[in-house]
Amino acid sequence: MAASRVSRRGFVGGVATALGAIGLAPQSELWARSRGVVGAIPLPLSGPEEEYDGFAKLANNENPYGPPDSVMKAMTHAMKYANRYGYPDGGIVDEIAKHHGVKPENVVLAAGSGEILDVCGTTFLQNDRVLLGADPSYNIFYAHATALKADIIKVPLLPDFRQDIPATVLAARRNARDVGLIYLCNPNNPTGRLVTKDEVRQLLDGIPEDIPVLIDEAYHHFVDDPSYATSVPYVFEGRQVIVARTFSKIAALAGMRLGYAVAPKSLIQRMRPYTVASISAIVKYGGVAALRDTDSQAWVKKVTIELRQKTMKDLAALGYESVPSDTNFFMVNLKRPVVPVIDEFKKKGVLVGRPFPPLNEHLRVSIGTADEMSRFMLAFRDIMAQRTAAKTG
Ligand SMILES: Cc1ncc(COP(=O)(O)O)c(C=O)c1O
Repeated sequence: MAASRVSRRGFVGGVATALGAIGLAPQSELWARSRGVVGAIPLPLSGPEEEYDGFAKLANNENPYGPPDSVMKAMTHAMKYANRYGYPDGGIVDEIAKHHGVKPENVVLAAGSGEILDVCGTTFLQNDRVLLGADPSYNIFYAHATALKADIIKVPLLPDFRQDIPATVLAARRNARDVGLIYLCNPNNPTGRLVTKDEVRQLLDGIPEDIPVLIDEAYHHFVDDPSYATSVPYVFEGRQVIVARTFSKIAALAGMRLGYAVAPKSLIQRMRPYTVASISAIVKYGGVAALRDTDSQAWVKKVTIELRQKTMKDLAALGYESVPSDTNFFMVNLKRPVVPVIDEFKKKGVLVGRPFPPLNEHLRVSIGTADEMSRFMLAFRDIMAQRTAAKTG
């Protein structure tokens, strides 16, 4: 594997630093020792964790930089509630409401926006209701709908990979009696393309007004295009709109699990009974700090866009076109089946996106650090040169 592995020594140092950052007190060290953990440092870890650390991780659209100091400090502070059920929550719901200019009754929390999506499925797709959305889109949500035995009407993307809003309106009208939920991922995963604010209005004005629309804004923070806008203002209008947001992307809290929905009170009341509400004290405090730390998020957005543009340009110079993106990932057209290429990247220590049929020749690549993107380009040149040689040889 070409990946530079993190040495065990370096890794243990890293854990020590991390534990230092979460402020373990001497009593905690005793507690740790009693469980076979020496000096608050876990005994050396073998295999899977070291291997994972060595990969360039460009598969899951994560933030490679980790939470900023402001968020780490807030979470460290909240560690004192680790042993409590009924802890203060840092005021997270009020902070989200303030952030969007809505009332706390318009907000529901979840362990990631994935849970919000699932809750919407359970709330709006029971009793043989149908889901309507673009294809491809965030397929994990479609898998949940399928598990609920809901039928899905999938509207193919346009040739330029944008979502086909007129066709979605038509499908909603034609199936008005059956459709229980419309899913609009904006910007869309896996393509990275956005739906403009005019198109969102066209959709909402065109469909029967009682059909709820779930607008997934997981990648909202990376958009730099004035034709786009959040759909939260539709909530003020009392439209049947649920906006899903996550702390997993720009806020770098994917492993901590926090997301939320903003929606009219009547929809929140229907959804709330299906939420699990199992969110850790730590991430609630982290979420408040993340919402306030706009400087760190602006920096992540800037470096991400710069690296995305550079990588797409480098790929174009090699003859590989990418789909325009407004997110922290993009799709490159490999002009050959993507599945074996994904495996070859892994062998070279680079994790890239899963397949997204029917786009069987497009590879989804998340934007990592500058070093990870260099490793991606190195592996890309190698793999694609080999494949061209094999084809012509
Ligand atoms: C479009 C979209 N929605 C929702 C999610 C779920 O994110 P999380 O549950 O981490 O908030 C993801 C994760 O990749 C996503 O890409």
